[in-house]
Amino acid sequence: MRYLSRPLATAFALAVLFAGCGGGGSDDEILIGEFGSLTGTTATFGISTRNGIDMAVDEVNARGGVLGKQVRVIVEDDQGRPEEAQTVVTKLIASNRVIAVLGEVASSRTLAAAPVAQQYGVPLITPSSTNPAVTQVGDFIFRTCFIDPFQGLVMAKFANETLGVTRVAVLRDIRNDYSVGLADVFVDNFKRMGGVIVSDQSYSEGDTDFRAQLTTIRASNPQAIFVPGYYTEVGLIARQARELGLNVPLLGGDGWDSPALTEIAGDALNGSYFSNHSSQDDPSPAIQNFIAAYEKRFGAKPDALAGLGYDSAMLLFDAIERAGTTEGPALRDALAVTDNFPGITGQITMDANRNPIKPAVVLQVKDGGISYVETIEP
Ligand code: PHE
Repeated sequence: MRYLSRPLATAFALAVLFAGCGGGGSDDEILIGEFGSLTGTTATFGISTRNGIDMAVDEVNARGGVLGKQVRVIVEDDQGRPEEAQTVVTKLIASNRVIAVLGEVASSRTLAAAPVAQQYGVPLITPSSTNPAVTQVGDFIFRTCFIDPFQGLVMAKFANETLGVTRVAVLRDIRNDYSVGLADVFVDNFKRMGGVIVSDQSYSEGDTDFRAQLTTIRASNPQAIFVPGYYTEVGLIARQARELGLNVPLLGGDGWDSPALTEIAGDALNGSYFSNHSSQDDPSPAIQNFIAAYEKRFGAKPDALAGLGYDSAMLLFDAIERAGTTEGPALRDALAVTDNFPGITGQITMDANRNPIKPAVVLQVKDGGISYVETIEP
């Protein structure tokens, strides 16, 4: 993965710089770091996650805090840039002396920052980065979501069995570790099931004109197009596909999850499907109570990212209580033995590679909204 191999020289130069700045929480508080895209083309990812984390922090503080101390979160905006993610996480750890870091949503950004947390021995929990390489960075890196080998299999099975299509085109974001990894898993599984990938095209995050790739895809006569990207580009791709008379359903993954998806796409995604971590239609009381509380506070229904943000914070607080300390190695060990933690996005048990095994849902874009189709167990 591209960002893993980045030299950490910049990070350590900054660490030396920040080390003189003091920092650390006072004795009666526990300081947590959070980094995410609060601005940029994936801003809703960072904002929803922050909202979920805020709810968890307020809830735990209202019931007396963690180890008898109040929890305080320092939030950094990485603007959706991997280099900036590495810089702000270095600052959070070396200058602010946070005892753990929550973030990022996007795998490329978590991959850029995780080596810093690993090097300092400070646990990092990504709520929602699904690329397998993220937790392979080291034993201080955890996640609260499923991984892409599962998510890609879910969508290949959905295309093959539920939709019954055999000819699928792929349009992947080559600057995005998540998109490339998920596309590969989908392609492998779909072919193994007897399907044909009629065209495999790419774009780069930030692009706004996809007509050349879509014209090539149209010529390959697909029955569906797999687009494992993020919502801003996916919304534009959908519009341009329809303009070109390409009317087959688009298929995607969790990166579609945003309140902005249908604002950008208009009607263009109606009838399209994507996999996700949870559904607003889930009748479980844990999810419905969270949705009601979130809606009351933020004036809109939460996406899956808000729930994952909430779960990652609550999982961390649970581990701190079990460890009885905020010291890095003890906290790492407590996180590693997380067993049946009752998250609102599902039960969380860490496997040996610090990845939870959780179900996925398939959702359909319909009449400007998102509706539940099915749940796929691991
Ligand atoms: N899974 C995506 C990644 O790893 C991020 C994401 C998760 C986006 C959930 C939206 C919802 O990059």
